[in-house]
Amino acid sequence: MTIVVRPSGQACGGTVTGVDLTEPLSEREVADIRAAWLEHHVVAFPDQPMDDDDLERFTLYFGPFGDDPYIATIPGRDHIIAVSRRADETSPLFADNWHSDWSFQKVPPAGTCLFGIDIPPVGGDTWFADQHLALDEMPDELRSRLEGLMAVHSARNAYAPAGFYGDNDAPDRSMDIRPSETAIDSQLHPIIRAHPETGRLGIFSTAGYIVDIDGVEADEAQHLLVELYHHQTQDRFVYKHRWQPNMLVMWDNRSVLHRATGGYDGHDRLLHRTTIGERH
Ligand code: SIN
Repeated sequence: MTIVVRPSGQACGGTVTGVDLTEPLSEREVADIRAAWLEHHVVAFPDQPMDDDDLERFTLYFGPFGDDPYIATIPGRDHIIAVSRRADETSPLFADNWHSDWSFQKVPPAGTCLFGIDIPPVGGDTWFADQHLALDEMPDELRSRLEGLMAVHSARNAYAPAGFYGDNDAPDRSMDIRPSETAIDSQLHPIIRAHPETGRLGIFSTAGYIVDIDGVEADEAQHLLVELYHHQTQDRFVYKHRWQPNMLVMWDNRSVLHRATGGYDGHDRLLHRTTIGERH
């Protein structure tokens, strides 16, 4: 089989066919997939009836497993979490704000794999915003104010006991989220940084996990973060991914933001997720 990559025609993203992910991959296949992932930032593999062993094996071709805090793994697996929502669930959607996964960590994960199991017939798309393109098209005036600044990242707004998924979260949430005081910790990362593998400059993460800007007065930092958010999430930088059952998607957290979307009330949605750590 020959791997074929078809670009989405949107800001980023591509579909990969000509490979069977239920079987071990050759070095050549892994290299081709890595190249497609680095070029398109989000790659989707339709018609892959994978089980959890296949998902773990695929993930480890691209790095070690990342560290997934605050969400319990599924029974019998140390590195797979379930992204789920039941048809009758009333809890606010999980992860429907723009973010780069776990950007508050000292070494944030390279990528994420998400495998579609129960996919609703309508809604539930995942959106991705290309942060290289967003930087390339950033007005000079905004860029000059951001160059050299370090963002303060923290999970506090989401996973601390007082956070969005904390003690006051909806009681019927099907996802097994475990808030913790450790979520108040913070970590600095450059707002504009080079991709660790390609060297291409991009914007890293966004308001939400970014809670402040180091060395900038609080009000000014919040204004700058709002301005940055409005710029980096514009529709012209976005790829809107439509799911199918048995579809695997792998994205590059160093290159894109992503967010869940709703519109599927009355339908179950279930995906299994692994995290790809940095290789060094
Ligand atoms: C996530 O951010 O991992 C979830 C994305 C989604 O549910 O579409």
